[in-house]
Amino acid sequence: MKKSAKKSATQPTQVQATAAASTSQEKHEIRPGQSLELLKELHILTRDGKLNQDSRRKLKQVYHLYQFIEPLLQQLQEERSDISLVDHGAGKSYLGFILYDLFFKAGQAQSKAHIYGIETRDELVKRSTELAQRLDFPGMSFLNLSVAEATRSTQLPEQIDIVTALHACDTATDDAIEFALKKKARFMVLVPCCQAEVAAELRKHKGDAVRNNPLSEMWRHPIHTREFGSQITNVLRCLQLEAHGYQVRVTELVGWEHSMKNELIIAEYKGKPVRRAAERLAEVLKTTGLDHMNRRFFVADGTANSENVTA
Ligand SMILES: C[S@@+](CC[C@H](N)C(=O)[O-])C[C@H]1O[C@@H](n2cnc3c(N)ncnc32)[C@H](O)[C@@H]1O
Repeated sequence: MKKSAKKSATQPTQVQATAAASTSQEKHEIRPGQSLELLKELHILTRDGKLNQDSRRKLKQVYHLYQFIEPLLQQLQEERSDISLVDHGAGKSYLGFILYDLFFKAGQAQSKAHIYGIETRDELVKRSTELAQRLDFPGMSFLNLSVAEATRSTQLPEQIDIVTALHACDTATDDAIEFALKKKARFMVLVPCCQAEVAAELRKHKGDAVRNNPLSEMWRHPIHTREFGSQITNVLRCLQLEAHGYQVRVTELVGWEHSMKNELIIAEYKGKPVRRAAERLAEVLKTTGLDHMNRRFFVADGTANSENVTA
């Protein structure tokens, strides 16, 4: 009895050990200078300042994505300070707020940088607008628009530097690409959500594609058609971006292991449309019976035969 009392006095209990580990982990997860008020408002921290276990995953995901976006912002910042970023399908704007807090806040007095959140749910737009005011983040605004409406809206500048779309639903990623092309965005950072449109078209136009084509096996089981539709959508998006002069990197957004949709597409404008990408895009559409979708995956007029293209 005496022995065990001595042991508990000199060695940490399980509870103490867990508490110590969780405190050091929390320190690691909360970065220097980061607004605790913001993290509480996003429900990442509880009111008494502890990490909310349910939201911790979201924070890790956004930090992970931040690692990819920060170098792009640094690259732009070397050239000018009035960087503009549009986040489509912003939801509660975790990404926009964390980007602003970690990257722009420190220099906000001198900075003309601006983050726009585009979101169709009015209550989320109102909430984010109020939160930005409360946190004194003047370089953030939120617009209750669809991505397609944002492309035509006069509330946004003519040119935008970075376009992000993080799990923007269904075809909102395609609309975000169209927006970014119109706004001559230097970078796009896209984590597509499930895209149902192509799978539906694949099913409808099955007959056009399956003749003499062993790939017709893709149509045998609906789950394969759906997943194939999702994959081929991202293939078409990448070809479309290359055809418009973007260099494309596709990677897995590791750390998103709980999410089914963890493909990350990063595109940087290099100025030279790639003719071969435009040709391949047309061939893929034809082979899969989707040639009528050339409006969705449009390329610039004449990409296939212009002088100003890379072969
Ligand atoms: C799955 S949530 C992702 C939210 C946020 N990007 C994130 O990762 O936490 C998708 C959001 O996109 C919004 N949304 C869907 N379609 C949209 C569209 N066409 N234009 C603008 N917002 C859209 C939805 O209302 C929803 O808030």
